[in-house]
Amino acid sequence: MYIPLEKKIKNKSAQVAVIGLGYVGLPLAVELAKAGFHVTGIDTDSDRVHNVKNAIPYILDVDSKDVKRLVKEASLVATTDFRRLGHVDVIIICVPTPLKRKYQPNISYIKQAVTQIKQHLRKGQLVILESTTYPGTTDEVILPMLESTGLKCGIDFFLVFSPERIDPGNEKFPLNKIPKVVGGVTQESAHLFKLLYENIIERVVTVSSPRAAETVKLLENTFRLINIGLVNELAMLCHTMNMDVWEIIDAAKTKPFGFMPFYPGPGVGGHCIPKDPLYLYWKAKLHGFKSRFIKLASDLNSSMPAYVVNRLHALKPLPGAKILVLGVTYKKDVKDLRKSPPLEIIDLLKKNKADVFYADPLIPYLKFGHFNVKATPLTSKALSAMDCAVVVTDHTSFDYDFILKHSKRIFDTRNAYKGNKSDKIIRL
Ligand SMILES: NC(=O)c1ccc[n+]([C@@H]2O[C@H](COP(=O)([O-])OP(=O)(O)OC[C@H]3O[C@@H](n4cnc5c(N)ncnc54)[C@H](O)[C@@H]3O)[C@@H](O)[C@H]2O)c1
Repeated sequence: MYIPLEKKIKNKSAQVAVIGLGYVGLPLAVELAKAGFHVTGIDTDSDRVHNVKNAIPYILDVDSKDVKRLVKEASLVATTDFRRLGHVDVIIICVPTPLKRKYQPNISYIKQAVTQIKQHLRKGQLVILESTTYPGTTDEVILPMLESTGLKCGIDFFLVFSPERIDPGNEKFPLNKIPKVVGGVTQESAHLFKLLYENIIERVVTVSSPRAAETVKLLENTFRLINIGLVNELAMLCHTMNMDVWEIIDAAKTKPFGFMPFYPGPGVGGHCIPKDPLYLYWKAKLHGFKSRFIKLASDLNSSMPAYVVNRLHALKPLPGAKILVLGVTYKKDVKDLRKSPPLEIIDLLKKNKADVFYADPLIPYLKFGHFNVKATPLTSKALSAMDCAVVVTDHTSFDYDFILKHSKRIFDTRNAYKGNKSDKIIRL
């Protein structure tokens, strides 16, 4: 069984299915189709399937012209029908892995996808999990589910874990420039993965097991969480001691070794950094190990929206104050509101009876909880009517000079006004 799949990958007749057409799945499906493989994207969300079929853009990093061409050529097909799994050679799982509640993973989407795969699993298939998850998911959850069909991993089918490291909005490191780590349940599994992905990725790094690969991803995101937590604490410390944290980080980063700059901000958002380390925390706890670093950094970063609101209150008592929140997505230039700290800031401002407005070039309407409003156009009149504008997400397309000129006061949580000495600007 192993040889035929190897041959099919080499001559590109291997057919691929990608389950989950989101930030991870769609770019991957497009790259594989561009490399000459026939790709079927399967999603339970019929809107996403409709969008792919009609090349309607919904993921910033994916060129809709590519999608249009690939769909027209029929090398990329999108469907909600899982029966297609029976016809493909490679199945890649890219479904969400959220939290049930803080510190508790929710791998139900993975289990749903694997339940579907089980029904169609046949000899010779390679199954790849790309969703970020805790160490042991592939070996302890997926492998027994797939082997319950009577088929045996390494003999009948192949199974690997390979974390996705894509960074939405990062033009310097698109998918194909980021080395891919893989851990196979068997060596042949990792070998087949490498053979396939070397068509789209410059470098594949093989580790000893799926568990190691799962932990690699969690280390990377825990590293970020902890370092962001550290500089967030330093920002609070510097404010208390009347120092400029941004100046200190900029000078520290001139050291050519042993230091890597991280920057403070209004909190950590998105579908990865806030929750991935908690997957590791949870699994380690099952083994009787309590990670103090992860908990501390997570709690510290979670406290940042409240810290920002307290600093705003100190600048202008919030009840009745007109506050303009600039940027509501979790990250600069990325249209993604998942776990976005600005939303928590808006919520807290409202709870403190402030009159809250927002502007974001990527989000014309904002609806969450009881907040359901249209973005405020950034006119001189609107800006001058505000008591304070707060830069929460520093989108490139904001006209920062214009905003400064017409605002009474700006609280800058991102150092968007780096080097500007205006006394209207107060930094985090
Ligand atoms: N977004 C990122 O930047 C990023 C980066 C690296 C890793 N990851 C990880 O990749 C995984 C996917 O993240 P994402 O950002 O692409 O999520 P997403 O929400 O953008 O996309 C997931 C897609 O899966 C679909 N889906 C859910 N359950 C399904 C099922 N049972 N069958 C078929 N489709 C299903 C959803 O409808 C959705 O379209 C997560 O584990 C995440 O942690 C994300």
